Formats: sequence, structure tokens, C-alpha cells
Amino acid sequence: MKEDLINIKNQAIARISDCQSLNELEEIRIDLFGRSGIFTNASKNITKVATEDRKQYGITLNEVKTTILDLLTEKKNHINSNVRTWFDPTIPGEKQDLGHLHMVTNAINEISEVFTKIGFTRVRYPEVEYDYFAFGALNFPDNHPARDDWETFFVEAPASSQYGPMLLTPHTSSGQIREMLANKPPIRMINIAKCYRRQMDVSHYPMFHQFEGLVVDKNISITHLRGTIDYFAKNFFGENRTTRLRPYHFQFTEPSFEVDISCNVCSGKGCKLCKEGWLEIGGAGMVHPNVLKNCGVDPKKYSGFAFGWGVERVSMMKSGLSIPDIRLLYSSDLRVLKQL
Ligand code: DAH
Repeated sequence: MKEDLINIKNQAIARISDCQSLNELEEIRIDLFGRSGIFTNASKNITKVATEDRKQYGITLNEVKTTILDLLTEKKNHINSNVRTWFDPTIPGEKQDLGHLHMVTNAINEISEVFTKIGFTRVRYPEVEYDYFAFGALNFPDNHPARDDWETFFVEAPASSQYGPMLLTPHTSSGQIREMLANKPPIRMINIAKCYRRQMDVSHYPMFHQFEGLVVDKNISITHLRGTIDYFAKNFFGENRTTRLRPYHFQFTEPSFEVDISCNVCSGKGCKLCKEGWLEIGGAGMVHPNVLKNCGVDPKKYSGFAFGWGVERVSMMKSGLSIPDIRLLYSSDLRVLKQL
């Protein structure tokens, strides 16, 4: 009797593995498990089995049943997975989202293009610097309170006996020193880099970008500074823009200025956006003789001008974008990034 069950199982296995279609598979299932199917009858036969063999017969019945049912399911899945769904090659494909460069990257490219056109060389210097290059050589006396205006991140590393503690560049002006130590005048550099300051709120981010211009040559005067600034304003912001200089103080320039650009909303008349027709873009000035001396440049023979402005700032001014929270600029939120 038990042999009959094993035969049923083996035959079923053979039929199922030869089977090619779902219809045929269904026939096999009915042949086995239908009302008078082979397996159904075999299970009814249990009453005819001798009492002492009945338990074993029952166990075998169950084994055979699960083996066959598992095989049927497996085969069904196999047949289904081979059925090709109809594919229409003429339907237009789904358009993939195209990324784009970040607003700040675009601004950096544009700024360097504007300056390289008039003979400036784009340079890069270390962002992890020594105090001397960021402050000392720029004419900041040791422990001078002016240093507090640059809320500096110091690096936990051994200080240099010559150059002092290590820090993250709080401004690109350190590039002036590096440039003058590396090259003799004439110098025309544009240093665009990341800056770091311990500030974070809606209008400050601990990492931001500046572009620093430095020109050192014989007979460089404020006129050259004015001309360069005007050239930048017109080429970056538009032909109709003008600039003005306001006296200011920086340790590393003398005289020093804040540079303003005419407001494009009110064309200089005065509006909600600006201070009486002018918007502030950043600092500038004539390189301080001490700074030249610190870099081995003779202030009797050479003079220079410098300026250092924020990339994010000019970029937002140009686009007219007013970002309610500057931190959004560096978030990975696609809803923001797509708009920049
Ligand atoms: N380094 C200054 C800052 O971060 C900006 C600056 C002012 C740069 C005057 C200059 C300059 O080159 O001449 O605020």
C-alpha cells in the first residue's frame, strides 16, 4: 500500500516536470486531487489499511501531498515568470531628472572668468592655515581685539614655533601672504576659497566662500582699485551698475574701504532693499606697507590693492534671490537645490 503512494508521488513529479503550460498543470492537479483523483482515492483507502500500519500510511500520505503541492506551486511560478508581458517600444521613455551645478559653483566659475579676462590668475591656498598667515602677517598685533571679528576655528594640533596655532582660514586674505611669499611682483591673483567662522544663524553659515583679489606692482593706486571694482560690477551684475567706496578700517589695508554697488531695484534712488540706493558688497583697500614688508616686498618700490568679498553674497545679490535661511543653501533638500 505504501508503495502505491510512492508511485503516485514519482509519477506526479515526472508529469509536473514535463508540463509546459498552466492549463496542463491544472489538469495534473485535478487528476491528483480532484473528487475522484488519484491521490484523493489513495487517501480514502486508509480505511482499508491494517490498523497497525495506518499511522505510517497517514504520515506517508502527508509527505506525498506536501511534496506534490509544493512542486505544483513552484512550477506555476516558474511558468508565470517566463510569460513575457507585452512591451510597446514606441511609448516615450520616462525623462530622467538632470542635475546641475550648485549656485555657488556657478558663481565661482563666473567670478574667476570675469577676473581672468583682465589678467588675474586663479589661485588656491591651504584652508588649514597657521595664525601667522591669517592674522600675524596681515598686520594684526598679537591678541589684538580685531581678531575677535573673525570668529576663528582653531585646530587641535601642535602650534608652529614660527607661525603659531593652526586654524581654518577665516578669510581668503591669508592667500595674499601666500601669494606674495611665492611670487615676486607683478602679481594679479584671484583666490577663491572656503572660509570658516564660528557663526551660525539665518544669515551665517560656518563655512562660506570668499574671493580675494590682490594686485601688486609699481605705481598701483586707488584708481586701479576703482577701475577693477567697476569692471567687476558691470561684468558680473550688469552694465548699468556703478560702485562707490566708503572709508573703513582693516588692519591689512591703508586706506581701507567698504565697497557699495548701486541698487538695481530703485536704480540708486533708495528703497526697502538698500541703504539710500546702495548695497554693501565687501571690503577693499591699498595693501598696508607692513604687509608688503612681511612678504619681502619693498613698499618704497611697490604698492598694491586688495579686496575680499563673499561669493554667496554677490551670487544672491545678482540673482535677486532672498534666501530666508542661509543654511538652506547647504542643505541636501532637493526642493531647494532645484531652485538654485
Ligand atoms: N578679509 C576681510 C574679511 O573677511 C575682507 C577684506 C577687506 C579683504 C579688505 C581685503 C581687503 O582684501 O582689502 O572681512
